[in-house]
Amino acid sequence: MSAAEPVDLTAADLHPALGDPALTSMNFLNEVSERYPAAVSLAAGRPYEEFFDLAAVHRHLDTFHRHLVDDLGHRPEQARRLLLQYGRTKGIVHHLIARNIAVDEGITVDPEDVVVTVGCQEAMFLVLRALRAGPTDVLLAVAPTYVGLTGAARLVDLPVWPVAGGPTGIDLADLAAQVRRARAAGLRPRACYVMPDFANPSGVSIDTTHRQRLLDLAAREDLLLLEDNPYGLFHSDDGPRPPTLKALDTGRRVVYLGSFAKTVLPGARVGYVVADQRVAGPDGRVGPLADQLAMIKSMVTVNTSPIAQAVIGGRLLEHGCSLVAANTRERSAYTRNLRHLVAGLTRRFPDQPDQPDGPAVRWTVPAGGFFVVVTVPFPVDDALLDRSARDYGVLWTPMAHFYDDTAPVCALRLSVSAVTPEQIDVGLDRLAALITDELARRAG
Ligand SMILES: Cc1ncc(COP(=O)(O)O)c(C=O)c1O
Repeated sequence: MSAAEPVDLTAADLHPALGDPALTSMNFLNEVSERYPAAVSLAAGRPYEEFFDLAAVHRHLDTFHRHLVDDLGHRPEQARRLLLQYGRTKGIVHHLIARNIAVDEGITVDPEDVVVTVGCQEAMFLVLRALRAGPTDVLLAVAPTYVGLTGAARLVDLPVWPVAGGPTGIDLADLAAQVRRARAAGLRPRACYVMPDFANPSGVSIDTTHRQRLLDLAAREDLLLLEDNPYGLFHSDDGPRPPTLKALDTGRRVVYLGSFAKTVLPGARVGYVVADQRVAGPDGRVGPLADQLAMIKSMVTVNTSPIAQAVIGGRLLEHGCSLVAANTRERSAYTRNLRHLVAGLTRRFPDQPDQPDGPAVRWTVPAGGFFVVVTVPFPVDDALLDRSARDYGVLWTPMAHFYDDTAPVCALRLSVSAVTPEQIDVGLDRLAALITDELARRAG
């Protein structure tokens, strides 16, 4: 082969995850929405863009800079270096994150147990990379599962074993059975991934009793729990929120994954992981799992952009480190939209003839978060989404994307976060037309 001859690679020579549906899913969904820009999107789980404020970004940066100088006693050149130079791998807003989860969630952690990451996505990757020690390791995850988790697991060669979710958010009998089944097969379940609050995609939450039972089961089975909580603040009732698993965790069973994408700004790409599990190193020195994760991070993203961290830090400082306080407007818009969507579905699918399994078109009524799942009596696949976008002008997400197999799934996910009530009305009219036509087509 001459030096000038181009080298062509084949996908078969690359990591096998690259051809996996878990990795292609997000791109496919983005492509569909790019191809049909006029379609109303009930697909995207993105925050509402009218809340974005460029001037506030500058102000947050200044607020955090002042905090470095006035509160932490840094000299101006030190503060400038902290913001603009390469920085501490575990981050520079870890103390504010520790304060935030203490104020909002009642979680008490040492800031040294926090790693600030490039979004929650990196946090998931670091944790899975660390836990996957060998070929017998597996991860349990409540199904349907967030596709970003499945994709990250693929990239570190960690098989994901589904655990039934059901109406309680996690079927504890199934979790115990899957742990036993995995162990009987010579495998080592390392952790179970759960989203106790308004899960993506199911919208289901786990009540306090089941949270406690889950922690008890994890202790009995010697399992770690990976708690992912991007939507917990967006509850629609005014009662107290159930405690997070991490707040109930007395045995360092829970690795807590956080994201500022929905509560501050997705474009900052800042998330974090609280990993207070003690790890004994080869030299006998004991430190938090966070230190091991930081070692991986130092070889992946080096450190999270300090400028982006400062924007998050400034927002936290301006609200007494409470994102509950910072998100009153957001919470009320999302809960208004959620109620509007559910009421809109009820209006568009009234008095359906009874089927043996209940109404033909059903939907969940979550107590918060961004997502509603609509179940229909026909398989919902990418081809139907394409037709929906092209012929009806409405986008949604096939639930099949959140299951780690190829079985047909008769459900779709709607998101209320990036739309107005008026757009919800238009989107639901179009969705109802699609479903009605599809039912008629299949009946006739
Ligand atoms: C359940 C869940 N976890 C993690 C993430 C990723 O968060 P980030 O944008 O902080 O990487 C998302 C984003 O939608 C999500 O829904």
